[in-house]
Amino acid sequence: MTIRRAHITGWGKYVPEKVITNHDLAQMVDTSDEWITERTGIKERHVRGDNDTTTSMAVAAARQALDVAGLTPDELHLIIVANSSPDYLLPSPANFIQHELGARCPAFTIAAGCSGWVYGLSTANQFIQTGAYENVLVIGVEIISYALDYTDRTTCVLFGDAAAAVVVQPATDGSGLLTFELGSDGSLAHNLWVPGGGTVNPVSQTVVDNREHYIRMNGQEVARFAIRKLVSCLQSVTERAGMSLADLDLIIPHQANLRIIETAAKYLNLPMDKFFVNLHKYGNTSAASIPLALVEAIEQGRVKPGDTIGLVAFGSGLSWAGAVVQMGVRETAAAPVNGNGHVKVPV
Ligand SMILES: CC(C)(COP(=O)(O)OP(=O)(O)OC[C@H]1O[C@@H](n2cnc3c(N)ncnc32)[C@H](O)[C@@H]1OP(=O)(O)O)[C@@H](O)C(=O)NCCC(=O)NCCS
Repeated sequence: MTIRRAHITGWGKYVPEKVITNHDLAQMVDTSDEWITERTGIKERHVRGDNDTTTSMAVAAARQALDVAGLTPDELHLIIVANSSPDYLLPSPANFIQHELGARCPAFTIAAGCSGWVYGLSTANQFIQTGAYENVLVIGVEIISYALDYTDRTTCVLFGDAAAAVVVQPATDGSGLLTFELGSDGSLAHNLWVPGGGTVNPVSQTVVDNREHYIRMNGQEVARFAIRKLVSCLQSVTERAGMSLADLDLIIPHQANLRIIETAAKYLNLPMDKFFVNLHKYGNTSAASIPLALVEAIEQGRVKPGDTIGLVAFGSGLSWAGAVVQMGVRETAAAPVNGNGHVKVPV
């Protein structure tokens, strides 16, 4: 019997128009294009415009994903939103997104920082494997700029805003999400956190004066953790799939810092062209980072029908998550014509 797995049948993205370059940031804090480029690989990032909300960005990405999958919102059985920058503290952004999309299914949010979308994909896989649901939307969306202190050069240069979404449905050909690993080490939580605004330290004038409502980070500690987890998590999900790293056609790592990816690649003894990288354009878009990279990899033909993809994320928590996903194959007439009027696309 073929195991029923979640496979990706639709994808979409939304990136706000407004761009902040490294040169722009150098006007705001004591930094430079050279420093940011050399230490992170980031050249620019997009941040929300006046009309962008967490909901509107997620819905724009979701509509594209539904279109590609050939589904209407009322055919959805579940919406999972990975997010740590909600429009409001209550209710969860998933509810607003569900309403705005015109869906009638359950919807919930996973707050696992930059690992959230891989957590979401793995969760969707459980509902599909059990037979509970068929059509699940998994969105990663962040307006992380709202939590950035634009007087703190150690954090504000790193992040950007974006949304991306996939539709997953049961695979009929053995493809889909083959293995996953989810992890959390809460003993490291205070290395990347927002100290104010929660129940322990509620919003107050003091919190605002101390800028405790913004992200604080111990960059070196997070970088060490990130490299460790990129290496070990990727190895473990690949081994569990009965594969070696060489069997992966492409690795899509969390897009936080080029140096982190390069260092992990060296430890893994893999060439950099095995890794998809788009962080120079977007910075770290947290939960949107991996799906945004996946969508762009598909659009650029870097992910092809039948390809096996490694996904690996790390982030606040500190958390990590990885997966091996095998893309399916579908003949479609909707995509650009390749002679016979049909083109193979990953599904
Ligand atoms: C943040 C990060 C780029 C800093 O790079 P680094 O090589 O570790 O740099 P350090 O923290 O050692 O700082 C070196 C110096 O650069 C300075 N510096 C930090 N940010 C700077 C900036 N934007 N521009 C110029 N100088 C900067 C520091 O103040 C420090 O100065 P000092 O030596 O005078 O004290 C790196 O630690 C990192 O990427 N960490 C992981 C962060 C991450 O990915 N977070 C999200 C996870 S989801």
